[in-house]
Amino acid sequence: METMTNNVQVEKAKTTKIHDVDFDNLSFGSVYTDHILVCDYVDGAWQSPKVIPYQPITLDPSAKIFHYGQSIFEGMKAYKDADGNAWLFRPLDNYKRLNKSAKRLAIPELPESHFMDGLTTLLQVEKDWIPTNPGSSLYVRPFILASGNGFHASPADEYKFIIACAPSGSYFSGKVKVLIEETYSRAANGGVGYAKAGGNYAGQFYPTQLAIDKGYQQVIWTDDNTHEYIEEAGAMNIFIRINDTLITGPTSDRILDGITRKSILQIAEDQGIATEVRKITVSEVVEAAKNGTLKEMFGAGTAAVVSPIAAFGYKGTDYDLPELEDSYATLLKKYITDVQYNRSEDKFGWRYPVQ
Ligand code: PLP
Ligand code: COI
Repeated sequence: METMTNNVQVEKAKTTKIHDVDFDNLSFGSVYTDHILVCDYVDGAWQSPKVIPYQPITLDPSAKIFHYGQSIFEGMKAYKDADGNAWLFRPLDNYKRLNKSAKRLAIPELPESHFMDGLTTLLQVEKDWIPTNPGSSLYVRPFILASGNGFHASPADEYKFIIACAPSGSYFSGKVKVLIEETYSRAANGGVGYAKAGGNYAGQFYPTQLAIDKGYQQVIWTDDNTHEYIEEAGAMNIFIRINDTLITGPTSDRILDGITRKSILQIAEDQGIATEVRKITVSEVVEAAKNGTLKEMFGAGTAAVVSPIAAFGYKGTDYDLPELEDSYATLLKKYITDVQYNRSEDKFGWRYPVQ
């Protein structure tokens, strides 16, 4: 066990799996690095985080995560530049959102130093795992689960904060076709939609599978009350370009406040693209598709980056989006990835060195 300058202990793995990985053909989030960060909440306090070899975790069958789904997560990426330096993108925003989710799920909030020192130490140890092939990065998954025991339906008294990493390629393969949802809901007023709670994703699997069976990749969620307003997609926020205006819905307690979403809004404004943050009705989008003013739709998120939508389905009809040469999606994706991979000036101070 070594102790790093920031007091995070590191136990190195005896062997590495890195040579078994085909870095030229990475899928998303399916191979994992040699180490994880672990930090336990016991006796009413978060203990010191440690980097240890990647390994299974042992939990009691009565651990509350299994019964009541008390768990939250974050999604972030580490990028490597041409000189081999490693970078994160707005990591403090992920830290703050983790605690926002923690509060809503009655999980004790994590101190900033545990998150940031733990994260940077883990990434220093795993630096060689950050891929350099175009479009690839190291997907970083911080999460907290209720490890404390008991069938009583109340918050656990013990938790585990873990960070695991997966060298990853793109989240979607091929063109993205989405289905605008008319029946099921992802989130409700006063619920947990704004939190990255594990259960929010489990609840989407069944309706998403129904959409996949019909030939779509993702569902676009609409408001639970009327299904008339566009909210967000399963793993990304949604942007819609009508004429030359880029529109996205306002965040609420039903929508995840995406870091990519807010970055895209800032970049668009900086680039002189007209933006509107307002409620968007499905009928407005269908009307725009019919009269030719709907130019683009794309999803934005850490895993998805900026993913252009090729077509959407609604009430049994598919509406194709045009293929534009000067799309906002292309411009915005280039801008944000140039900042992330340290290929351009970081005007807004978003890049964070791993050192
Ligand atoms: N919406 C949902 C439901 C998500 O899971 C994600 C992914 O994190 C996003 C939006 C995009 O958020 P971010 O840009 O912070 O990754
Ligand atoms: C991310 O974009 O990081 C997410 O958390 C989405 C995830 C469900 C893959």
